[in-house]
Amino acid sequence: MGNPATCYLNGELMALASARISPLDRGFLFGDGVYEVIPCYGGVPFRLDAHLRRLANSLAAIDLADPLSARGWTEVFEQVCRANGGGDQSLYLQVTRGCPERRTHEFPGRSEPTVFVMSSPLPAAGAFADGLHATLREDLRWARCDIKAVALLPNVLLRQEAIAAGADEAILHRDGQITEGAASTVFLVRDGELATPALHPGLLPGITREVILELAEQHGLPFRCRPIGLDELRSADEVWLSSATKEVAPVLRIDGDPVGNGSPGPVFAAMRGWFTRLREATARGRQP
Ligand SMILES: Cc1ncc(COP(=O)(O)O)c(C=O)c1O
Repeated sequence: MGNPATCYLNGELMALASARISPLDRGFLFGDGVYEVIPCYGGVPFRLDAHLRRLANSLAAIDLADPLSARGWTEVFEQVCRANGGGDQSLYLQVTRGCPERRTHEFPGRSEPTVFVMSSPLPAAGAFADGLHATLREDLRWARCDIKAVALLPNVLLRQEAIAAGADEAILHRDGQITEGAASTVFLVRDGELATPALHPGLLPGITREVILELAEQHGLPFRCRPIGLDELRSADEVWLSSATKEVAPVLRIDGDPVGNGSPGPVFAAMRGWFTRLREATARGRQP
């Protein structure tokens, strides 16, 4: 095992406990930065290309140059993962617009971005497969949730409200349509068909979402990306949440009411099996 808390900050590997940034960092002052969370199975980053593509899109959307090449990122991830003992980990990376000398809203003329990577243990395969409870709440966030921005105050408040209500996650809606979870993508199953909201600027293009849709396609499970209304969610046969750290998890209750018969459904069980096989294949070094 390596040091369990090694991180990368601006070109150097160091102990997380001794990593320091300036209070003038624009990530700290304004939330002016973007991030990614990448699961590593058996030390192998899962869907690395897709995560780097989404990172590039987030950076382009906030007019920040990508500080590293794909190869550069890959090397940093390998180093951080190895230093933290390899195996199953969740890599977190963040890029901010750096720390200029003065706090002004407009972009600084010149400042080096702050680049930070850390990792933490990833929950075991199927750790959330027994099911989660959700609340249904109005989506209070801004109109560019397709950017994976570090400014997550609404997500934090919505998640905390869900926890205070005895649930695990908040499912969000805007103008009568489901958008996504506070930190997850939403799926439902109705009459044997899988559905998830189509991508638009009001939600994050989840990488796990992409994987689930690919698995559905490969295994002949019908699916559609389409608007999902509130009533449809409440009366669905199955509801799932997905994310890099949760994989895919069934929602058993929404605001206390059971989803379907209140236990993980058969379509979820099939998807969970396909996902676990993919995870195991990745850990063995073959990324199908
Ligand atoms: C708001 C939001 N939507 C969706 C997701 C799922 O994205 P991914 O599957 O890439 O983890 C996340 C992940 O954290 C998220 O924060």
